Amino acid sequence: MHKDIQEILYGEDKIQKCVAELGAQITRDYKQRVDSGERLMLVSVLRGAAIFMADLVRAIDLQVEMDYMAISSYGNGAKSSGVVRILKDLSSEIRGCHIIVAEDILDSGLTLKYLMKNLASREPASIEVATLLRKKTLQQAKIDCRYIGFECPDQFIVGYGLDFAERYRNLPYIGVLKPEVYAGTT
Ligand code: IMP
Ligand code: MG
Repeated sequence: MHKDIQEILYGEDKIQKCVAELGAQITRDYKQRVDSGERLMLVSVLRGAAIFMADLVRAIDLQVEMDYMAISSYGNGAKSSGVVRILKDLSSEIRGCHIIVAEDILDSGLTLKYLMKNLASREPASIEVATLLRKKTLQQAKIDCRYIGFECPDQFIVGYGLDFAERYRNLPYIGVLKPEVYAGTT
């Protein structure tokens, strides 16, 4: 285990099993529509969710497109600033397409709330959210998440795409960061 990690919450096997189940669920839910020629696209929010989406698409047994957006809501600190900016937009046209937004973690929900509104204005056929983690926190924007991997404790966690100041994204597991690592930065 990495020296900055206090505790592993979800190990590699647990994450893979969870992603496989989410993929199977999505396959069941969209099979009919995709088989009749409708488009399905997974959209991930860079950078954290790219790792989750890369695994998730491989667990979906349907024709599926991938696209990316980059949004900033966090600085390098551990708390959401509530300020959301589009840094990179989708490359594809999504009108009439079934969209699933793949998120790494839902915390305040501010990022996702903004993103959903933005995507909805482009008139996709439908829009759902698949989040690997949802933090159990009191202050969370109301968001309908169709697919949720894990309900996680309200602690600052890293790994499997999640970072602290761009570090730890490449850890294959998800763990709680030792508070002394980010002390003084929030
Ligand atoms: P929200 O707008 O507060 O829901 O923030 C969502 C984004 O904040 C996620 O996509 C992550 O990039 C980041 N985030 C929230 N909680 C954590 C955490 O515990 N560790 C690392 N990043 C986090
Ligand atoms: Mg981040």
